[in-house]
Amino acid sequence: MTVRPILVTGVAGFIGSHVARRLVADGAKVVGVDDLSMGHRTNIPSEIDFVKGDLSESSTYDKLPSQVDHILHLAGQSSGEISFDDPVADLEKNTVSTLRMVDYATRASASKLIYASSMSVYGDVPDSAIAEDQVPRPLSCYGVGKLAAEQYLKIFAKKMPSLSFRMFNVYGPGQDMTNLRQGMISIYVAQALANNHIVVKGSFDRFRDFVYIDDVVDAWQLASQASLQGAQVLNLGTGVRTTVRDVLDMIVAALPGVTVEQTDPTPGDQTGIYCDNTRLASVLGKKTFVPLGDGLKRFVSFLR
Ligand SMILES: NC(=O)c1ccc[n+]([C@@H]2O[C@H](COP(=O)([O-])OP(=O)(O)OC[C@H]3O[C@@H](n4cnc5c(N)ncnc54)[C@H](O)[C@@H]3O)[C@@H](O)[C@H]2O)c1
Repeated sequence: MTVRPILVTGVAGFIGSHVARRLVADGAKVVGVDDLSMGHRTNIPSEIDFVKGDLSESSTYDKLPSQVDHILHLAGQSSGEISFDDPVADLEKNTVSTLRMVDYATRASASKLIYASSMSVYGDVPDSAIAEDQVPRPLSCYGVGKLAAEQYLKIFAKKMPSLSFRMFNVYGPGQDMTNLRQGMISIYVAQALANNHIVVKGSFDRFRDFVYIDDVVDAWQLASQASLQGAQVLNLGTGVRTTVRDVLDMIVAALPGVTVEQTDPTPGDQTGIYCDNTRLASVLGKKTFVPLGDGLKRFVSFLR
C-alpha cells in the first residue's frame, strides 16, 4: 500500500519549514507547497517533494497529490501591518486559500486539517490571560481574515475535522530577518545587529506572549499525531505576560551597547495580550515552554 503524504503549506516560510523538518525527522513522507511570495527556497527541507503554487488559485490544487494523510496549513500573508496595504490581497492569500484548502482536503480524503490562526483574532482584550472563549474583536484586516478562516473551518467541521492554533508571537532561528514588518522580536534583533539601534513602533508598555519556535513545532507535531473531531481552537503561547520594555532589556543585555528609540504605533496593533494555555495542555499535553531569556540567547547566538 502506498503511504499517503502529509501536506505542509507555507513550507518555505519560518514556521512551515521548521514543522516540515520535524515531520521528516520523524520519518514521515512530506509534500510541501508555497508560492514563495514571502518564504525562501533555501528554507525548504531537501527531503520533501515541493510544489510551487499560490493556494488562492484553483489551478494550484491540480498540482497537489490526489490523496493525502492530513494537512498542516501554514501558508498565508503573515503580517498585520502589511494586511492594511492591500486588504483584498490579504483576504485572498489567507482566507480564500483556506476555503479552497478545505475543499481540496475533502477531495484528497485528508483525515484532518490543522490551521495557522493567530492571536490577532482577539484584538484589544482585558489585561488578563486570554482563553479561547474570549469574544474575538480583531483590529487588523489580517485578524479579520484569520477569524473568518476559523469560522469556515467550523462550518465544514462535519466533512473536515480541524484544529486552529491561535499562535501568539513566535520567534527564533529561521525568522525572516529582512522583513521589518513582521515578528516583533526578529524586527528588534535585526535592527540591533545591523545598526546597534532599535526603533520601536508603539509603546514600551505593550505586552505580548512570546513563544519559541521549538515549542510551536512541538504543538504542531502533537496535533499532527492526534485524532481530531469537529473544529477545535487552541491558543498556542506560553501564558507568560512580557512587556516590550522587558524584551528590549533582554536584547540589550544580550547585545550590550544597543540604543532604543520609540515612534508612532502601526495601525491595528494590539495594546497587550497573553494567553491562557490550559486547553493546549489538556488537549495535546503541551505544558512546558522555553523561557524567553533562554530562547533569545539561542536566537542571537544562531544569528551571530
Ligand atoms: N510568526 C508568527 O508569530 C505567527 C503568529 C500567528 C500566526 N502565524 C501564521 O502562521 C503561518 C506561518 O507564519 P510564518 O511566521 O512562518 O510566516 P512566513 O511568512 O515565514 O511563512 C508563510 C509562507 O506562506 C507562503 N504563502 C503566503 N501566501 C501563500 C499562498 N496563498 N499560497 C502559497 N503559499 C503562500 C509564503 O511565501 C511563506 O513562505 C502564517 O499563516 C501566519 O499568519 C504566524
